[in-house]
Amino acid sequence: MKILVINGSPRGEHGNTQVLVKEFLEGAKETGAGTEIVYLKDKKIEHCVGCMDCMLKTPGICRHQDDMPDLMLRLREADLLVYAPPLYIFSVPGLMKDFMDRQFPMERKPYSIAHWSATRKCSSNTSMLTSKGWV
Ligand SMILES: Cc1cc2nc3c(=O)[nH]c(=O)nc-3n(C[C@H](O)[C@H](O)[C@H](O)COP(=O)(O)O)c2cc1C
Repeated sequence: MKILVINGSPRGEHGNTQVLVKEFLEGAKETGAGTEIVYLKDKKIEHCVGCMDCMLKTPGICRHQDDMPDLMLRLREADLLVYAPPLYIFSVPGLMKDFMDRQFPMERKPYSIAHWSATRKCSSNTSMLTSKGWV
């Protein structure tokens, strides 16, 4: 089983969220799972501009050239996807939200979930691991 953790903290490996991630992954490794962590703070992820090109003009392909196509391939390969953002104003940090918004092309070919299911392994399980500081 391949587990992919998306650390969505701007503090990355030095943050509180990483403490939880480490604990989680130590347990996961004991089960023999393969694990990988992506630190969004180290990735180039442009904001979605809402042009809808990935739906209407170039289905499945975003106009931005950044790290998202590679990240979407990694999502596709994972058996378990763990989102690990800290809580920011009762939500997620902007870099995590950009990462979520930019998965929009995955709804369309060649990243479409239906397409994956038909052709290759599909990431079917998603979990959330979050750290917070206030009450
Ligand atoms: C901009 C900002 C917004 C935050 N909003 C909340 C919040 O709404 N609720 C909460 O309990 N903690 C909030 N916190 C605290 C963080 O969730 C907490 O410090 C978290 O452990 C940080 O994780 P990190 O060290 O991995 O970045 C906020 C922190 C920041 C910097």
